[in-house]
Amino acid sequence: MADTLTIIDNRTGQKYEVPITDGAIRSTDLRQIKVGGDDAGLVTYDPAFMNTAACRSRITYIDGDKGILEYRGYPIEQLAENSTYLETAYLILFGELPTQAQLTEWTRQITFHTMLHENIKKLMEGFQYDAHPMGVFLSTVGAFSTFYPDAKKIFDEQSRQKQVLRLVAKVPSIAAYAYRHSIGRPYVYPDNDLSFTGNFLNMLFKMTELKYQPSPVLERALDILFILHADHEQNCSTSAMRGIGSSHVDPYSAMAGAAAALYGPLHGGANEAVLRMLTEIGSLQNVPAFIKRVKAGEGRLMGFGHRVYKSYDPRAKIIKKTADEVFEVTGKNPLLDIALELERIALQDDYFVTRKLYPNVDFYSGLIYQAMGFPVTMFPVLFAIPRTSGWIAQWEEMLLDPDQKIARPRQLYIGAAKRDYAPLEQRG
Ligand code: ACO
Repeated sequence: MADTLTIIDNRTGQKYEVPITDGAIRSTDLRQIKVGGDDAGLVTYDPAFMNTAACRSRITYIDGDKGILEYRGYPIEQLAENSTYLETAYLILFGELPTQAQLTEWTRQITFHTMLHENIKKLMEGFQYDAHPMGVFLSTVGAFSTFYPDAKKIFDEQSRQKQVLRLVAKVPSIAAYAYRHSIGRPYVYPDNDLSFTGNFLNMLFKMTELKYQPSPVLERALDILFILHADHEQNCSTSAMRGIGSSHVDPYSAMAGAAAALYGPLHGGANEAVLRMLTEIGSLQNVPAFIKRVKAGEGRLMGFGHRVYKSYDPRAKIIKKTADEVFEVTGKNPLLDIALELERIALQDDYFVTRKLYPNVDFYSGLIYQAMGFPVTMFPVLFAIPRTSGWIAQWEEMLLDPDQKIARPRQLYIGAAKRDYAPLEQRG
């Protein structure tokens, strides 16, 4: 029997056969069903895209109920254990793990693209001393489109590859400059002898020493965090990247929009919000009262819940282990005990259990970042750096997908019916 869905319109008795492909019907197939007269046909109403697939993708697979996350088919646990961020970025962008020769060349290319144009430095100096680094980051990424006008050639493969290298390589430099600017320290130029994350730590934290030596534990922990954040299929910022990119604007402008989406407290701003929440709770004895307030609807337990994961976020499990390793070097973050107590209570409380609310990736990442010496305002920036590879891979997939067009959702108009303009003196 053919894979179809039969729809009977009870108003007319008319029957429609709609094909099911890859577990989905095409919304446009519903347009043959008329709602009344000569209208454009039946549409689906899906605010926040709760049940709408907007693309076919080969990049990231998530099974939210089982807590599975895979990049190009590789389980996140195996990548976090064995891979590096740069290798994972290659996998996400090009579809396969690199050979040794490919990895060497990719690493060389990225290393040679980390410098920022001196005028970018000047641009960044124009921000207020206390400007939020994420505001600086997204503005600077947007400004890149004026420095690299060749990026407009989005259907030229070579040009696209150039922008991929620039973006992956330069985002840590932008992030580090934004941070140094916010604390009034001189910018530090990249060091080609160091790894991707080692160099990032160098650009952030180098003082007067001739050569910065990153702690191998912190360097690896940051690399793992970057692997975990590299992609997450059609989340809010990735949808923004695809949506803006669908107008065929250059990738820098599209990514400025994606970074803006990531800035929000319900998305990449969540780990900043977690830290603020833990600081506000202040001590273990205040935890039950806080949980009570959340259950009464007075605020959310930040770092808990996820649109897709309805079980423990697999990234949160890996992060918890990484946290222990980091705290051995940095000393324990005093807020950790409050986080553990919140988790303990929430995981056995009916309110959270019935709503399937579990810790997400952001519940512990902020504690690690803080222990490593990052201010909370840097947290969304630390998310944007690795997510850059996911955003560009998704953008490129969208561009080359013959099914895609400029993104343009429909609406259900519920406003006033047609009426005539009244002169000012006749109103009221
Ligand atoms: N604390 C308390 N209650 C919550 C929470 C939370 N963190 N999250 C959801 N709920 C409750 C809602 O109040 C709602 O309850 P109700 O059915 O009684 O009205 C129910 O659970 C379902 O919530 P929705 O908002 O419908 O869930 P949705 O899938 O839209 O939201 C989201 C997902 C935005 C992540 C939400 O869980 C949330 O706000 N979490 C806190 C912010 C956070 O940690 N965001 C990071 C996400 S991960 C990331 O972006 C990398």
